[in-house]
Amino acid sequence: MNKSLIDFSSLSSEFIFSLFRQASINKKNLAESISQQDVFNHKMRGTAGLLFFEPSTRTRFSFQTACARQGVHPLVMDSFQGTSLEKGESVEDTILNLAAMKPHFFIVRCADSIPLKEISDHLDIPIINAGWGVRAHPTQALLDIFTLFEKWNELSEKKILFIGDVKHSRVFSSHRQLAKILGYQLAFCAPDEFSFNENESTGLLKFESVEEGLCWADAVVTLRVQNERHDLKQTRNTNLHNYASLYGINEKRTKLLKKEGLILHPGPINYGVEIEREVLKDSRSVVLQLVENGVFIREVIIQKILAKEILGE
Ligand code: CP
Repeated sequence: MNKSLIDFSSLSSEFIFSLFRQASINKKNLAESISQQDVFNHKMRGTAGLLFFEPSTRTRFSFQTACARQGVHPLVMDSFQGTSLEKGESVEDTILNLAAMKPHFFIVRCADSIPLKEISDHLDIPIINAGWGVRAHPTQALLDIFTLFEKWNELSEKKILFIGDVKHSRVFSSHRQLAKILGYQLAFCAPDEFSFNENESTGLLKFESVEEGLCWADAVVTLRVQNERHDLKQTRNTNLHNYASLYGINEKRTKLLKKEGLILHPGPINYGVEIEREVLKDSRSVVLQLVENGVFIREVIIQKILAKEILGE
């Protein structure tokens, strides 16, 4: 049996809501204890290998913050430089060798080509998936939904519209799994190049226009155009100019969203492409609240691992 969080395939709604409850407690404790300066007074509880084989700001630093709050020393690998990966050692061998140093757990961001699940199956040390190619980004989906749950106090039947590059989005992949467990509705609006074919989109509502989707939604998640995964300039309908005019979230379009609607973006943002800078000032934008809540969600996952409570398979 493994204790990893690679995706949501074996998590129950009860377990996920217990994560949310503990994250809220951690948040309250932090707010109340900052003046007492006792938040970081944990005894050292071990080490964690933070292995980021792809770039990251929010996920990496929020896991580092969460480790610090839980008294876990993070051993961070954030580039190939200075490691034996430069000499051709594989990611798999790198993880196996670091596992021999007995960290309490790993946090790994890597490409699709890395067999993360198989590596996890062969280790007795838990792995937390911190973004695995286009396959899954479970802690991002959890922090998104924790933030919405904080605002609404319910999720069932809530309608969440994703705009943009759903095809290459690990965030959207994780939401497809999580929505089935927690009962929220998903829809998307995307240019053909970023969209699914009929078989791939079973159970998903698709809007042809952003305007129509925004009128339907309780929350909108506008996704980053992932320039590193495809060349937009090669495609007629998805060049940067057309993308913003057809799919970008601007002040005019936000008027279509409900008054109590919410605006999310997982970051990093291409301003003027998927979202205009002024939209972040809209009272319905929770973009930085997502980042704040990301630490609490990651902290509670670390607590579960330290308490040896099973997360997944
Ligand atoms: N949302 C997210 O995963 O951001 P980073 O790539 O900066 O970690």
